[in-house]
Amino acid sequence: MKALILAAGKGTRLRPLTNTVPKHLLPVGNKPILFHVLDYIKEAGIKDIGIVVSPDSGPYIEEAIGAGSEWGAKITFVVQPEPLGLAHAVKVAQGFLGNSPFLMFLGDNLIQEGVKDFLDEFHASNSDASILLKEVPDPRAFGVAELDSSGRVVHLVEKPKKPKSNLAIIGVYLFTAEIHKAIAQTKPSWRGELEITDAIQKLLELGKEIRSHLLRGWWLDIGSNDGLIEANRVVLDAFSKRDIKGEVDSQSRIVGRVQIGEGTKLESSLVQGPVFIAANCRIKNSLIKPFTNIGAGTVVEDSSLEHSVILENCQILKIKHLADSVIGRNTILAGQGKSPEKIRLFIGDDCKVELE
Ligand code: G1P
Repeated sequence: MKALILAAGKGTRLRPLTNTVPKHLLPVGNKPILFHVLDYIKEAGIKDIGIVVSPDSGPYIEEAIGAGSEWGAKITFVVQPEPLGLAHAVKVAQGFLGNSPFLMFLGDNLIQEGVKDFLDEFHASNSDASILLKEVPDPRAFGVAELDSSGRVVHLVEKPKKPKSNLAIIGVYLFTAEIHKAIAQTKPSWRGELEITDAIQKLLELGKEIRSHLLRGWWLDIGSNDGLIEANRVVLDAFSKRDIKGEVDSQSRIVGRVQIGEGTKLESSLVQGPVFIAANCRIKNSLIKPFTNIGAGTVVEDSSLEHSVILENCQILKIKHLADSVIGRNTILAGQGKSPEKIRLFIGDDCKVELE
């Protein structure tokens, strides 16, 4: 069994952040999205992993992941020269996949349950594909599956205008090598992409059995700024633990599940978990409220932060109430301590914002 992670998407809805950081390396909770995906794969016991990257994102992703020793895996990077769809990415990775069955994971999808049960069910069956489904209120932005009364998959459509069910196809799939034959017979969709949903529908038309597994826990598809903040909230809520490695002075107080990295100093501040503060930060005279994620090397002084994702090496000075925000790397936010009650910002790397 191999695993294929698709991490070539451009992340256009997360611009300007994704102009300089690949979407898959943005942090959710205490690590980048892609690291969470690699953890799921490790947990499932798969050690031969291919990662499909774009020519732009490839070098950043290779540098972040290295040889994969952290996951006890052998990692092969495959470059998809153009974003021509998920099935196209599989085609490009055919040399890596060979005839092996594989788990395919979209590098921006996170799920609560992990994939071990999904994999065990697939191994015990004779199916050529298995898809994960989740009931959603509005499935029009996703692939949608139609099941018959016995729960068998009978039809799949990508982003239907009039969905026949409320079952969205999650970005985690299991395939045998039969999928390559189906992809070879699939035509590009209206958006000019080779859709994996269409390829799985083709498998059905070729008489193959497709299994489905309904996901009960949460599913996060991190495509937008709000999606990133929400994913950070859910992941911090689900996984954060109290782990204080930095220095906390006697004037500071930490409440609840707070993780503070090595070399971080907390002075005269209050931190209310769940919160993640990475290494080498300095938090002084500040209030850090729940669901905040602060990247390494960031300085926060005389400020209050809440429900926000702050990337590495920022300076947040005299900002009265920053909430529901995403701040790129090396950005300086400087206020006079009298900024409006609450400010909400989405800004990229290397910016300077001064508030009167
Ligand atoms: C892709 C798939 C879609 C699936 C979704 C899950 O959509 O094409 O079937 O439901 O991922 O995240 P895209 O992200 O390309 O819009």
